[in-house]
Amino acid sequence: MKVLFVCLGNICRSPTAHAVFRSKVRDAGLQEVILVDSAGTGSWHIGSPPDDRSIQVAKNHGYDMNNIYARQICAKDFKEFDYILAMDEENYNNIQLVKRYNESVLLLYFLHFSSVTERLDVPDPYYNKADDFSEVLNLIEGAADGLLDHLKIQIAGAK
Ligand code: 4NP
Repeated sequence: MKVLFVCLGNICRSPTAHAVFRSKVRDAGLQEVILVDSAGTGSWHIGSPPDDRSIQVAKNHGYDMNNIYARQICAKDFKEFDYILAMDEENYNNIQLVKRYNESVLLLYFLHFSSVTERLDVPDPYYNKADDFSEVLNLIEGAADGLLDHLKIQIAGAK
């Protein structure tokens, strides 16, 4: 099972989802079964570590962002991953534009998996204050729990 989180720059939201979800996957002992990665639709930050503000907020909540470096989503991702999870509508639309009809990867809003909010967009915090980074983390944690529950059911069904 392969899951790719996608935002615009791959330095704030999707690496946060990457760090939070891989931690929950490890805690569940499923790291051999669920592969987690992240990417951006944009190319500005390729090769960069996550934004310092994201690293700090993640650390405050007990998540490390080690070994996460920005990359851009590419054609291979549509063949390799089972789920591509967009952080907001702009990301969703941009990914949808390049997805081929015969690629079976599921493109969904990440917050679709949250049972604690009705919203679908994780707001872009890049030009905003520290508070927004905390809100990003809270939204992501809620959806990560729902996603893990969903994948556990898929994994059990595939056995
Ligand atoms: P992200 O945030 O998509 O959550 O990584 C952004 C990071 C960088 C930029 C925009 C959004 N930027 O314009 O460089």
